[in-house]
Amino acid sequence: AKMFQTLKQKMAEGLLPQWVVTDPEIYVLEIDKIFGHTWQFLAHESELKEPGSYVTRWMVNDPVLLVKTNSGEFKAYLNSCTHRGTHLCTADFGKKKTFTCPYHGWSFNLEGDLIGIVAGDKVYGQEMKKDQWSLRPIPRIGIYQGMIFGNLDPNAMPLEDYLGDMKWYFDILLGRSDGGMEVRGVPQRWVAQANWKMTFENFAADPYHVQTTHRSTVEMGISPKDPLYAGYGHQVVLGHGHGINVITSATGRSAYAFQGMPESMWPMFERNLSPEQFEILSKTTVFVGGVFPNLSFVSPVHGTEGHLHNYLNFRLWRPLGPDKIEIWCWFMIDKAAPEEYKEEAYKGYIGSFGPSGTLEQDDTEIWARMVQASKGIMARDKTLSYNNVCNYLMGFDRVEPDETFPGPGIAYPTCYLDSLSRSIHEYWLELLTRDLPIDGGKNANELEITIPN
Ligand code: FES
Ligand code: FE
Repeated sequence: AKMFQTLKQKMAEGLLPQWVVTDPEIYVLEIDKIFGHTWQFLAHESELKEPGSYVTRWMVNDPVLLVKTNSGEFKAYLNSCTHRGTHLCTADFGKKKTFTCPYHGWSFNLEGDLIGIVAGDKVYGQEMKKDQWSLRPIPRIGIYQGMIFGNLDPNAMPLEDYLGDMKWYFDILLGRSDGGMEVRGVPQRWVAQANWKMTFENFAADPYHVQTTHRSTVEMGISPKDPLYAGYGHQVVLGHGHGINVITSATGRSAYAFQGMPESMWPMFERNLSPEQFEILSKTTVFVGGVFPNLSFVSPVHGTEGHLHNYLNFRLWRPLGPDKIEIWCWFMIDKAAPEEYKEEAYKGYIGSFGPSGTLEQDDTEIWARMVQASKGIMARDKTLSYNNVCNYLMGFDRVEPDETFPGPGIAYPTCYLDSLSRSIHEYWLELLTRDLPIDGGKNANELEITIPN
């Protein structure tokens, strides 16, 4: 408890000890206290087109089977057979009326009912009640703008309350076009040496790294030379650890109206958005942000004059350990966009933020080195002197919120700022140290972290 008090104090001063990045005990708490109770992204509804469509996903260590039922509803189950517990469905996606277990052949329908047992009548007696062996539903499921989330806590606050003001920005990103967005291809995924907090923070709250980490784009002439270029615009702190950076340019407007999207689409945006949302979309170059704990997004502009395009990239950072993540990466595009534009945008994505993209490679190396550097004797020193803290002091004593910003949240008039990172860490610590009566795990206050003498 004392350790967490000190941590809280240090964080209030804008400092974060390096050892919290990969500390194994912190990690166990994070999985129980944070991932056991917050909304985690599962899929976009365009991935499940027809009744019987399904995808398999993970909520950290809980395998999930998400299906579209015959009535068009989405249902999520633990993807684990109720007989002996093996994975029921081993494919990534597909379409089925029934799921048959690969171990002993029990089968379940889209409603999760157990409908078939191999040699059922002969090997089980009258006492076998099939309806007691249905698939176990994921306790909560919620949808906003086509984004399907799950929650392992039956008592969690509703998804819309959890998203809060992020909904307003999701409307711009996901709800501007008739028919909404669609996922193109399947989500790509790969494993990286990284910590989920650091990747989340990088996307949600760190436009400051762009000029240096992605220096090659400046050298190739794709990005401006001005070292402040990713800082123009607003960083918006949204609560519950969520936030967004609305990046414009030195003039306060993007050089690319509506992120280079075809002019034929603009009237549709005006129809679907409020005047304030429409205005923000008209003058933004890049939206980049995150929904705590582990969903990030970026909506950039790529290409050259005459061939500009925009897309929406969602990423899920699935923790596989304190120093390892599985990255899930979705490409989304306006369903109503012209087909050849969608194709061009997809190519732009592959070359930049796809697993082999230039921007992706830059970040991956940094993230691996962050976890490596957090494991040494000096970084892990938990004496209260904390000589091993990281710096979250950017902009803190001089930047005041901009009351004229048209969107909700606390909007600061620059994106080179640690306000959002600090709000992420504060929420992280709040959840980590929260007493939850329904939780079987340890409370942070009972946890004893050994302090070396
Ligand atoms: Fe699924 Fe036995 S484990 S049928
Ligand atoms: Fe980056």
